[in-house]
Amino acid sequence: METIKTDVAIIGAGGAGLRAAIALAEADPKLSVALISKVYPMRSHTCAAEGGAAGVIKPDDSMDYHFNDTVGGGDWLSDQDAVEYFIQEAPKELTQLEHWGCPWSREANGSVAVRPFGGMKKQRTWFAADKSGFHILHTLFQTSLRFPSIQRFDEYYATDLIVDDGRCQGFTAIEMRSGQMKHFQAGAVIIAGGGAGRMFPFTTNGAVKTGDGMALAYRAGVPLKDMEFVQYHPTGLPNTGTLLTEACRGEGGILVNKNGRRFLQDYGMGPETPVGKPQLKTMELGPRDRVSQAFWQEQKKGNMVSTKWGDCMMLDLRHLGEKKIDERLPLVRDVSVSYLGVDPVTDPVPVRPVVHYMMGGIHTDIRAATPLPGLFAAGECACVSINGANRLGSNSLTELLVFGRRAGLSAAEYVRSGASAGNDAALAGKAAAAQARIRALFEKTGGRESLAGLRKEMMTTMEDNAGIYRTEGELLAACAKLADLRRRYADIELNDKTNVYNTDLLQALELGSMLDCAEAVTVSALERRESRGAHQRLDFVERDDKKFLRHSLAYYHPSGPPRIDYRDVVITKSQPGVRDYSGDHK
Ligand code: FUM
Repeated sequence: METIKTDVAIIGAGGAGLRAAIALAEADPKLSVALISKVYPMRSHTCAAEGGAAGVIKPDDSMDYHFNDTVGGGDWLSDQDAVEYFIQEAPKELTQLEHWGCPWSREANGSVAVRPFGGMKKQRTWFAADKSGFHILHTLFQTSLRFPSIQRFDEYYATDLIVDDGRCQGFTAIEMRSGQMKHFQAGAVIIAGGGAGRMFPFTTNGAVKTGDGMALAYRAGVPLKDMEFVQYHPTGLPNTGTLLTEACRGEGGILVNKNGRRFLQDYGMGPETPVGKPQLKTMELGPRDRVSQAFWQEQKKGNMVSTKWGDCMMLDLRHLGEKKIDERLPLVRDVSVSYLGVDPVTDPVPVRPVVHYMMGGIHTDIRAATPLPGLFAAGECACVSINGANRLGSNSLTELLVFGRRAGLSAAEYVRSGASAGNDAALAGKAAAAQARIRALFEKTGGRESLAGLRKEMMTTMEDNAGIYRTEGELLAACAKLADLRRRYADIELNDKTNVYNTDLLQALELGSMLDCAEAVTVSALERRESRGAHQRLDFVERDDKKFLRHSLAYYHPSGPPRIDYRDVVITKSQPGVRDYSGDHK
């Protein structure tokens, strides 16, 4: 097997991975950086982010406001030292992107424009029409090309971390084009592999988001933190799950039920303000957890619009007018027409909540370091944690910049602090064992389980039992089912045993990642006997700060459910309080 030696290797070349690579290259051009991605970087899921990135920029806003919105929005489960670092760094990162060429939308006077976003009580979301993620990714990708120390390995799938002498020293990866296994021997590794929304059947997430980065760290002994917190975005297209950005509501769009009522006023987000007038009350700009929960409640009351794709609410943008829709929300119009045949200029668009984001992920500290020396993580795959129990829209693009950079700087520091050279023979032995595990998949015959069948069962289990509202009984059923699926997963057989672009193999490995992540979600959710943010229990309806003002930590077990432990939340200046969205939103 070929060994590629590098100072730092990064798994994932979306926003966080690219930002980490640039930070490393700027910090020390002599450090070699290997950037590994299972897709070409411009196909990473950052590309799909639409509405924008939050950072204080306008005179009526302040760092304190951003801090309070984020901590309250997260139902006080955010680590406040991490939030403080995040909000301070946010405007610097967004300005840095501007200098690298990101085409932020502008006010008439030429200054950077910001728009309102859910749960943010001030306007602070920078945007590039409704293609913010695309432009951010493009900007980072182009910038990364300036640095000769960054070497890309596109279309490589990482299979196992190599841990020796108590530290992470690289990983094995399959070069998809040839099917060859490569050994990346690295002084430090950064995981920036994105989320795991694909474990659910109905999601805004692209097909690549299968939790591979999370699973790599988890299996190497690093805990997954706060995995029970799964975000539903309120407005997905009901047929495909495609995101209709929260910016629709930031620009003044409204949500109505089948009676034409703006029902959010009945769920603590009112009172209603006149349509077309500036949005002074929270209403449609409530946080995602609350808006999705309100949808569920209205659905139970029979107040939703029945469509061939299931119950929907209606997103009405007509009063914004064609000019504004085309200027601010061109992608929304495009996807609504293309995928649903509905033009938002002339008709309300049916939408429903859809799995969008994992608040949980690889446990890191404020330096983006995991408990495993030499291993760092950033972006959606990581939980630092700034998002707590519910992320506010537009904090995640900024998060991947702030903590992507931080991960790069921390990895550079770690490598330069001179962790002694690895033992080549021991590392090669571990790489060979990882290769043997993949070979065994090729050699297996007589498998009785179908990959697609297991995947479908997993997705249905997650949607039915670990959705917007949960109960003990449902979660127990999900845990049992997932344990069964993990056992049955051992009995799959590859249909395709060739080497070149073997998507059968890749999908088998991705399913393994998703099953591990799904089990961490359901077991953590079962153990959290309270309701907080995006984790709502019908059998434990109150938030319980006495028992659960703590992060959950799920530790992998190869043949059983994860062990769940807890750690305290870092509180610096905001004591847990009541989340109140009935006030002004300017
Ligand atoms: O609705 C959106 O544009 C999504 C943004 C986000 O998840 O931050």
